[in-house]
Amino acid sequence: MSDPVESNVLLIENVPSQASSPSGGVVSVWTINRPDKLNALNSEVNSALKSACAWAEADDSVRVIVITGAVPNEPPEGKRAKPNSFVAGADISEFEGKSSTEIRPIFEDNVWEYVWNLSKPTIAMIDGFALGGGSEIALSCDLRLATPRSKFGTPEINLGLIPGGGGTQRLCRLLGYGRAMEMVLSGEMIGGEEANRIGLINHLVDEDSLREKTMEIAQNLATKSPHTIRIAKAAVRTALEQPFSAGIQSERDLFCELFDTEDMAIGVKAFLNRETAEWTGA
Ligand code: COA
Repeated sequence: MSDPVESNVLLIENVPSQASSPSGGVVSVWTINRPDKLNALNSEVNSALKSACAWAEADDSVRVIVITGAVPNEPPEGKRAKPNSFVAGADISEFEGKSSTEIRPIFEDNVWEYVWNLSKPTIAMIDGFALGGGSEIALSCDLRLATPRSKFGTPEINLGLIPGGGGTQRLCRLLGYGRAMEMVLSGEMIGGEEANRIGLINHLVDEDSLREKTMEIAQNLATKSPHTIRIAKAAVRTALEQPFSAGIQSERDLFCELFDTEDMAIGVKAFLNRETAEWTGA
């Protein structure tokens, strides 16, 4: 596999997937690493994340991407520990003094779209604050796992702002208009259990089991055909863009096209022969 671009603010660990097919696949775990600033997204993190997305998209061995936040450092003596965070938002210090002309290019070529546009499955592994741009990173992933002590919110309203990384739209699609409106207008945080109850996350998991459960899901996805999984992701995404009847038509087109792939022939044959499918990715 090719080497990802190294960065102190984004640690990349490639965990081999023993059961991946084709073999040699990895689950790429990305840790946003600014724990003293609650992993806030400054321009350095954004740039590292964009490079990582380009690398992951181009490297066939990357099968699944997990995004998480670094755990707090030990506090200096006499100081309180920083709280656990996934990402506590865009770095607010980079907002000060900026005009719309300066901010627009940053938000037009934004990190949330890079994550959203990955064709491979993405999982947000959340233990702590997922606020503002951090909640939007989580919303840009396909799946979200979080601990009960996690806190989600779009507090931009308290800064005289609104979400700018797709939060208003993705929250509406995921939770429905009513809950999205309340979150955006109130800026209030909701805890992990409530997030699970309303469907903001896929799984609520205790701190001790978060990584294990996340990796179990990621490793399972790495065993699927990489081609079919990309098509499956694209098919589900169609529901966000198209009216219902057009979405049904689009699904049918994709389904039929899969009949011309090697992996469909392999998968069907393996089932009938009671064997494990060895995908080619074609
Ligand atoms: N941008 C820049 N710095 C941030 C940040 C952000 N979004 N969120 C937290 N930090 C920094 C704090 O400035 C502080 O830095 P310092 O220790 O150098 O002063 C450090 O992270 C710890 O945060 P602190 O506020 O002291 O922790 P807390 O436990 O008192 O409060 C929060 C935690 C999450 C409630 C609080 O940090 C917060 O409200 N953050 C901003 C959330 C937000 O509005 N996000 C949307 C941005 S668009």
